Amino acid sequence: MSNCVCGAKKEEKKIQVNVNDVRKLLKKYEEKKGVLVHALQDVQKEFGFLPEEALKVIAEVMDLSLAHVYGVASFYAHFYFTPRGKNIIKVCTGTACHVRGSKVILEGLEEELGIKAGETTDDFEFTLETVSCVGCCALAPVVVVNEEVSREKNSKKIIAILKNKKEENDE
Ligand code: FES
Repeated sequence: MSNCVCGAKKEEKKIQVNVNDVRKLLKKYEEKKGVLVHALQDVQKEFGFLPEEALKVIAEVMDLSLAHVYGVASFYAHFYFTPRGKNIIKVCTGTACHVRGSKVILEGLEEELGIKAGETTDDFEFTLETVSCVGCCALAPVVVVNEEVSREKNSKKIIAILKNKKEENDE
């Protein structure tokens, strides 16, 4: 493993970043001011995170320093510097959800997946995260799976549903 510009360890998974593809993606931003966040969003949408190579291209195309690009990207919590899983599971640990048992769900998911909150499984199928409140406290405890609030509260069933979906998609 080596270190990224953000200081985080790079994951073993090798993401192929074609610099020319990134340049094409950013063509619409050439010579425009104040569009750095949009460029970062486009790159993250393409790769699922912000690869170091792509950050360098953004800096070059926008005539900014890499430190500036990284500084802006790291300011926002929704930008990621390491590869994430295909399925993103977020457990709300806000007050309402905590009181109604989110800790048990989180521990169940950690055990089921063999990772801790903030980590991604080795096969990059799952990333497990916590959030402080997603704004639907009436449904507490809330688990958000791939941007949708899950009705399922049983950690084993949440994972089983996602694994079944994967098998169906693979067939
Ligand atoms: S505290 Fe969990 S949704 Fe508000």
